[in-house]
Amino acid sequence: MKARKPFFGANWKMHKGPSEARRFASAFTDAYPVGEDRTVVFFPPSITFPVLRRAMESRADLQLGVQDVHEEREGAHTSAISAPMAADAGAAWSLAGHSERRREFRDTDRLIARKTLRILEAGLSPVLCVGETLDERESGRLGEVLSRQVGTVMDALDDSGRRAVVLAYEPVWAIGTGRSARPADADEAHAIVRRELANWTDPEHARDAVVIYGGSVKPHNVEELLEAEHVDGALVGSASLDPRSFAAICRAG
Ligand code: PGA
Repeated sequence: MKARKPFFGANWKMHKGPSEARRFASAFTDAYPVGEDRTVVFFPPSITFPVLRRAMESRADLQLGVQDVHEEREGAHTSAISAPMAADAGAAWSLAGHSERRREFRDTDRLIARKTLRILEAGLSPVLCVGETLDERESGRLGEVLSRQVGTVMDALDDSGRRAVVLAYEPVWAIGTGRSARPADADEAHAIVRRELANWTDPEHARDAVVIYGGSVKPHNVEELLEAEHVDGALVGSASLDPRSFAAICRAG
């Protein structure tokens, strides 16, 4: 039994407007009983956020986050949302550095570091996503990539910020492909992430920090992933869109 509290995140990406979210919330709360021993966080699209918040109001065990924030607090940045706005709307969390942001929107490690600072400043908790491409893995650069992605952000934070970050290891080749990492491979990468965390904090924090896995997590593979020593939960994309399948994932471990 691990001392770390399991964490399950639903990353809805660009799925579900307000009406669908309302239906989801009702089915999910029926399928998933209150679970105090684990953290469950939904990351809906921003436009859906207020409706999902209201629909889950009676469930204090379910938390909400945003998928991304701008690196500034406010300003002329059409379409963007800021970390203080997300906090005001009731978010407790924000993702930072999801691989789709890195690829489609060209978020660099430095930009992700600035966003993470803003997230912390606004009183939210960041889930920092890191992970290698297939090419990086096959050319033996896993350690180097993870160390750079984690290190650039840690370097920008103070000690309490470093300790507030939840890490999500999400190999790019496993996201949305139906091809999850094998538990042993996820475990190896999570151990690298913990070593990197130890370099920036201390071994006790690296041992206690929550490090979750993302990339084609489904009800049928979540248990074996959670059995890996260093895996504390999951960030779930497509399987989080179905209330029963996400409820099954959140009950795992
Ligand atoms: P997936 O997405 O579960 O659909 O692979 C995971 C993620 O991108 O966080």
